[in-house]
Amino acid sequence: MAIAKKVNDYMTKASWIRKMFEEGIRLKQEVGADKVFDFSLGNPILEPPEAFLTVLKKMINDPPAGVHRYMGNAGHVWVREKVAAYLQADTGAALEADDIIMTCGAGGAMNVALKALLDPGDEVVAVAPFFPEYRFYADNHGGVLKVAESAEDFSLDLAELDKTIGPRTKVLILNSPNNPTGRMYSAESLQATGELLLKKSTEAGHPITVICDDPYRKIVFDGAKVPSPFAAYPHTILLTSHSKDLGLAGERIGYAAIGPKHEDRVALRAAMTFANRTLGFVNAPALFQQAVAEVQQASVPIEAYQDLRDLFCAGLDDAGIEYLRPQGAFYLFPKSPVADDLEFVQVLKERYILAVPGSGFGRKGYIRLSFCVTRQEIEASLPGFKAAAAQLR
Ligand SMILES: Cc1ncc(COP(=O)(O)O)c(C=O)c1O
Repeated sequence: MAIAKKVNDYMTKASWIRKMFEEGIRLKQEVGADKVFDFSLGNPILEPPEAFLTVLKKMINDPPAGVHRYMGNAGHVWVREKVAAYLQADTGAALEADDIIMTCGAGGAMNVALKALLDPGDEVVAVAPFFPEYRFYADNHGGVLKVAESAEDFSLDLAELDKTIGPRTKVLILNSPNNPTGRMYSAESLQATGELLLKKSTEAGHPITVICDDPYRKIVFDGAKVPSPFAAYPHTILLTSHSKDLGLAGERIGYAAIGPKHEDRVALRAAMTFANRTLGFVNAPALFQQAVAEVQQASVPIEAYQDLRDLFCAGLDDAGIEYLRPQGAFYLFPKSPVADDLEFVQVLKERYILAVPGSGFGRKGYIRLSFCVTRQEIEASLPGFKAAAAQLR
């Protein structure tokens, strides 16, 4: 067979999210779309805000000269200036345009950062449960993923981090608000992690970089605000995208911001720009860079996701299913009524409810439900949750 053994192996083990999504398509064909409740995929349902569409229309109707051409591989300078100014006001960090690399989403940004940072065999630590693509992204660049468990309430567990971070650790990935748990890390826990990492960096003889993979940083509930990723630790890179906050997941636009206090700030600017080019992205999509630059403050209406969270939580309460109330993002990570999360997923599927097993995120005994769906879908699915939980109890 022509396919690499490793890729073949990864494809068979990988992506419960995709498996469930495909199962959803099959079930919809079999029993009708209105009878299937698909909570498997985090595909934003809210349309991009009017402010964004206005800028985009103007660019299409009255295009600036050369709008579709190549530019420097990090992106347009004026775009990066606007992003740096926005982020500086938002986080308090003294970012410059040169610290910003425009990328093909947060996924593109993660690959760019890891390519710039990893030598073969270097370790990347992720906190479980975690976005499953991290394992493949680390492997793309010769890295090895190591897993630190989070605490029972999904907050950072310092003892676990202490145990898992070693001399070969180059990167710690933090994702807050978190996919799949909706947990947001507190400023205090980030501070304590930062202190641990300073000690670990000295022991390792190189700075360990924290990559904050935060595409949900604007999607936070109950008036909360995500703490600045740069405040707690100097060697930090922030990744984000407009997939979720502007509803542009298909357009592949985001950016990386190198913390101004990173020991290798200047070298990282060059290395990540090089990686953006040589990974074949070349540069982030030109039109969308320019359109998002004008609307850095904007987002889809977050209250709409908060309402969906509240509706779903009330339904799970009624079904007697335990969960921790998400502080942000658009996922719930409830506890399975039985130890085997695959069994819970199967029983839900018999009621045409599609969920992703927690095992796919490195935490057995839980399931992930994405609530970027309509109110009607949540409402109509709730009797199924109640019956499934009662059956298993
Ligand atoms: C934690 C996390 N990181 C990265 C991504 C990738 O986002 P993007 O579409 O910006 O590449 C996702 C998408 O679901 C995610 O949940």
